Amino acid sequence: AYDASPFLPERPGRGNAGLRRLRDAAADCRGCPLHEDATQTVFGSGDARARVLLVGEQPGDQEDRRGEPFVGPAGRMLERALDEAGIDPAQSYVTNAVKHFKWAHEEGRGKRRIHKPPTLRETAACGPWLAAELALTEPEVLVVLGATAGKALFGSSFRVTKERGTCTEREVRGRSERVVPTIHPSAILRAENRDEVYAGFLADLRVAARVLE
Ligand code: URA
Ligand code: SF4
Repeated sequence: AYDASPFLPERPGRGNAGLRRLRDAAADCRGCPLHEDATQTVFGSGDARARVLLVGEQPGDQEDRRGEPFVGPAGRMLERALDEAGIDPAQSYVTNAVKHFKWAHEEGRGKRRIHKPPTLRETAACGPWLAAELALTEPEVLVVLGATAGKALFGSSFRVTKERGTCTEREVRGRSERVVPTIHPSAILRAENRDEVYAGFLADLRVAARVLE
């Protein structure tokens, strides 16, 4: 089976030094085939003392080129909403369920830079990196951005429409975490009624912000 575990350092250490060691090791991960076509590993970003951990789906085109999570249009949307919800970016650690960009391979057309969500095999393979990030950051609240991240963490029965905006204690990769699911910020960019969808996203983030009060 695909699995990132053999590529994780046995004892990464704690705090930001630990996160740096994880990031360096993840750069060489070959736990699943996604590393073959992607430009680079996009590890999580933020301080080990972050109070909020946000989990997205998978790096997009911009993230693949730049090597940092949420630096494209979805990232700008997220940044704006976090600011408005009163969640300090300096207290946020941002990462993804899967650390490599996914090219879409199409019959007769080669590989193309279009979005395709990761499979459960890929999210399962990449999970040990997220588990290590959780262990080092020990967030007070974990914000799940969208259905793919939700299914990656809680299984395929997860329904973002049902769970969004709630705050519950859940088992995440062997740890008990306070979890607030919401939509993925790119859903706002795709929506016709953007203002309404954005307002819903903001309301969910405010639920997470209240945990920090
Ligand atoms: N979408 C994600 O889920 N993650 C990113 O890092 C960028 C876009
Ligand atoms: Fe490793 Fe995750 Fe990249 Fe697959 S997607 S190679 S498991 S870092």
